[in-house]
Amino acid sequence: MQKPGPALRGIGDRPTDPRLLANPLDFICEDHLRERLVCEVIDGLGVSASLNRQAVLTVLRFLNEELNVHLRDEAEDLFPLLARRCTAEDAIENTIRRIRADQVEAIRLMPAIRATLARWLDTGADLTAADRATLTRFSGHVRRHLVAENAILLPIARARLTRADLRTLSRHMRSRRGLPDFMETPDAE
Ligand SMILES: [Fe+2]
Repeated sequence: MQKPGPALRGIGDRPTDPRLLANPLDFICEDHLRERLVCEVIDGLGVSASLNRQAVLTVLRFLNEELNVHLRDEAEDLFPLLARRCTAEDAIENTIRRIRADQVEAIRLMPAIRATLARWLDTGADLTAADRATLTRFSGHVRRHLVAENAILLPIARARLTRADLRTLSRHMRSRRGLPDFMETPDAE
């Protein structure tokens, strides 16, 4: 599998480079960097006294184009692969359950976040205290999931997933983004 060069890695200030999909765990790790940065933007909006149109658009775009697919990458592919490959000593079931709980809660809050931000853009009217609390709660769930994944699941995934697993993960993540599969590399199993 192609090793992505350092130039492909970013600082989370833009959507993750699709070329990193050749190495799907690197892509997920980079997505987490991106999520962390957008969570900071969301927290900033939650305490902002005035409308920052650019920041609101960044968050809306992230929710619609990036976070949904990231959560599906994990729920539909990464977690089932981990469950299949991990041993009892890895004891990842509880970790996955906790991460899923945060993700489900983030997904549940997403329509309210979208509606709040869209209304803010449309009317420019101040956010209510409840709107601000929902923004903060949402970023808390997103941030907690990525911290647990970076610290626990991704290192285990790097140790346990086979090359065939990584190719499957990469193919599904590309297909989810409407991208064709990579050509098989000569050293592929
Ligand atoms: Fe994640």
